[in-house]
Amino acid sequence: MNKAIVVTGTPATGKTTVAKAIANKLNLKYIDVNSLIRTHNLSEGYDDKMKCDIVDTDKLNRILKQMIKDSDQKLVIDSHLSHHLPKSYVELCIVTKCELKELKQRLEKRGYSKAKVRENLDAEIFDICRNEAKEKGHNVIVINTSEGSKDIDDVLEEFGFLKQFEA
Ligand SMILES: Nc1ncnc2c1ncn2[C@@H]1O[C@H](COP(=O)(O)OP(=O)(O)OP(=O)(O)O)[C@@H](O)[C@H]1O
Ligand SMILES: [Mg+2]
Repeated sequence: MNKAIVVTGTPATGKTTVAKAIANKLNLKYIDVNSLIRTHNLSEGYDDKMKCDIVDTDKLNRILKQMIKDSDQKLVIDSHLSHHLPKSYVELCIVTKCELKELKQRLEKRGYSKAKVRENLDAEIFDICRNEAKEKGHNVIVINTSEGSKDIDDVLEEFGFLKQFEA
């Protein structure tokens, strides 16, 4: 089985940017969990205050596990829920992080409500995704998307060891 690379992190910290860059660079298959949630009808309702789908992570895990088992390619899974996968399915868990000031700007630029901006900043402050990923026992690396240049390729160059996952 080709274990997956999962990319998790607080909303707007740069998961999609990083996951797509890694998939392109290493020639792996990019999986957008948001579109999976739609195609598999995994949404169990809508949180109006937070303006997001409510998703059953067990159901999502079942689908992702099947996809990982069936895939002849290594998958790069983009989702703030991806770190809930069991360790046995995950080769590497990348957590994206962003400085709070910049994260606040990114969230506000999206037009999120005050409550949603606050909730997401709190999630970043408490490092929820990284802590949950560590609790799961994943092999965790952190990529800070707020530092320096926008060129994520430079960041990936620093992580030369990623090459071992190349297809
Ligand atoms: N390395 C970076 N340098 C500067 N800006 C970045 C970087 N990575 C991402 N951004 C910017 O931050 C914003 C959020 O990035 P992105 O959409 O990748 O986050 P996300 O974690 O996938 O968000 P969501 O959880 O909503 O899917 C975008 O406007 C993007 O251009
Ligand atoms: Mg995204």
